[in-house]
This record gives sequence, structure tokens and C-alpha cells, in this order.
Amino acid sequence: MEKRLKVALLTSGGDAPGMNAAIRAVVLACEHVNFECVGVYHGYNGLINDDLSILTPLSVDNIIQQGGTILKSARCPELTTETGVNQAVNTLIKEDIDALIVIGGDGSFAGLIEIGKEWHGKVIGLPGTIDNDLDGTEYTIGFSTAINTAIEAIDKIRDTANAFDRVFIVELMGRHSGHIAFNVGIACAAEQIISFENFTPDQEQKKLADLAKEIFSQQKNKNNSYLVVLAENLWPGGATSLVNQLKLQYKIDCAACILGHIQRGGSPVAKDRILATKLGVAAVQAILSNKSNIMLGEMNNEVVEVPLSEAIKHKKMVSENLVAAQQNILALTARTSKKIKLYK
Ligand code: F6P
Repeated sequence: MEKRLKVALLTSGGDAPGMNAAIRAVVLACEHVNFECVGVYHGYNGLINDDLSILTPLSVDNIIQQGGTILKSARCPELTTETGVNQAVNTLIKEDIDALIVIGGDGSFAGLIEIGKEWHGKVIGLPGTIDNDLDGTEYTIGFSTAINTAIEAIDKIRDTANAFDRVFIVELMGRHSGHIAFNVGIACAAEQIISFENFTPDQEQKKLADLAKEIFSQQKNKNNSYLVVLAENLWPGGATSLVNQLKLQYKIDCAACILGHIQRGGSPVAKDRILATKLGVAAVQAILSNKSNIMLGEMNNEVVEVPLSEAIKHKKMVSENLVAAQQNILALTARTSKKIKLYK
């Protein structure tokens, strides 16, 4: 009897809503073309420790709506070493795997490229990260849910901020990229977005002074809340430090809210479920067509194949048009125009 092709599948790095939808799509597509599919647990650690088990359509029943990942995820520092890569490759050989699909972000793809150099099998990446910082795809799996989660949370913060005419600094995830901060800031009509696109830490004191001046002028003329969306890993000391600086140096009453890992959880929105499903099916089709060393992404609503190395070579930037629209039109006009007081 001819050997069935064996596909291993793992999720790696920060989990992202929609990873389960991608797992489901891969498993069902494998079943359709008669490939055997095995799940690897806890990211690359499962390859190093030989922690694998067979996935069937039953294993992925009723998971499309679940956040997190049924395969578990982890970061795996061992994979940055030669020994770690060799251990992973040994397991792939021992388990007679023909192709490895990894759902993750840039660090996960860097590990996958190393495995691809040492192993004869096919390596395929699916973009799974809330950060949306991979090149070659407009959206990564998880980004849309993460920004919706943050928007819902900030809308609530705005209510309490309005009630007290208060200043809030809300810190959002994104590691070293501003896609979450910028998109959420725009969707929440934040008065300020401080992100990688418009701020560097050497501008700290000037930005602080400008911010304080603007908050004073805004709050002097009208009853208003003032919301600053801040990208994580950017302001020295983060949101808490910015709040303390405004309080101590300028006597501005303000509060910090660090949204943190809430942005990683929850049921994926439609956009993430559909993207994950399309890309999961495309990954299996790519294996069937003998492709390797690629990431499947989506551009202009079409599935595209991008060399893994290209996907992580440059950080995908937030669109310049979006940054300009926010800075020069939306925030500026909203801040400087007179608002009608509804309750007074
Ligand atoms: O890459 C996803 C992400 O959530 C980033 O936005 C964040 O900087 C990082 O992971 C947090 O990682 P950890 O959960 O390991 O602290």
C-alpha cells in the first residue's frame, strides 16, 4: 500500500484568536486529500520532546469559535541553537513526517527556516499573530479580533473618562509594531496615538510638554475626556511612567490602563475565522503542489505565496496614509474644533 503523506502541524509564539480555525482547516483539508495529520504540542518544544499525536476531523470538531489553541503554544529558545534545531529535525525524521506547517509570527518563521535548511521535508508558514507585523499579507490571523477586543475595552474606558472629564493613557500590545495601536486609536477616536510611526524615545520630554499643553487647553475650554493610546515597549517606563510624569511634572489627574493579554484571547471574529480557514486549506494545497519554504498570506482578498524569508525580512509598516490622516486631519480637527456641550 502506498504511504500516506504525513503532515505535522504546530502553533508557536503568542497565541492568536483564529489559530484553532486554521488548525481545523488544515486537518479537514488533509483528510480530503488523504494526508495523515499529526499535531505537535507546545510549539517547537513538542518537536524537541517528541510530543505528537494524530489529529482527525473529530479532534477539530467545535473549535472554530474558540480562542487560544488546542495544540498549545510556547516560545522555544532552544530552537535558536544548533542543538535545538537538530533535535527538532531528528523527531521529524523519526516520526516519518513529510511536511511541517507552523502557525505563528516572525520568530516562529525564523525557526522554521532553520529547520528547512537541515531537513528534506516541506516547510510552510501560516501568519498567526495579533501584531499584524508580517510582510506579504494584509492581515495576520488574530489581528482583527485583537483590535475589536481593544476597541470594546476602550469604549468602556471612554465612558468613565467622560464621566470624570479625565485623561486616560491606554497601553496596547504589538511588541515593536504599531498596527494595533494605530488602528485601535483611530477606531476609538483617541485624541492622541503615540506609536512607533510618530514617536521615538529621544523625543520624550518634548512630547510630554506638548501633551500637557494640549490637555490643559482642551480641558480648560470644554468638559472633555482625553484619551491617549500608547504602543507598548515605546515610552520609557510605559503607560504607568507616562501617567506619573503627567501627574508629578504637570499636576494632571490621569489614569493608566494596560490592556495586555486580554487582546490575545476570546472567540475569533468572522474575519479571522475566514482568513484562517482560507489559509489553512491553501497550506495543504501548497504541499500537494510540492511547494516549500513559503508563507501563505492574503493580499487584495486573494491567497498569495510569499517566501518565508521575505515575510520576516522587513517589518510591515502601518500605512503612511493612515498615519497622515490621523495626525493631520482626524485628531487635529477633533481636538481643535469646538464641541457642543450636551449636558450643560
Ligand atoms: O506577539 C504577540 C504578543 O502578544 C505581543 O503583542 C507582545 O509584545 C508579546 O506577544 C507578549 O509576549 P508574552 O505573552 O510572552 O509576554
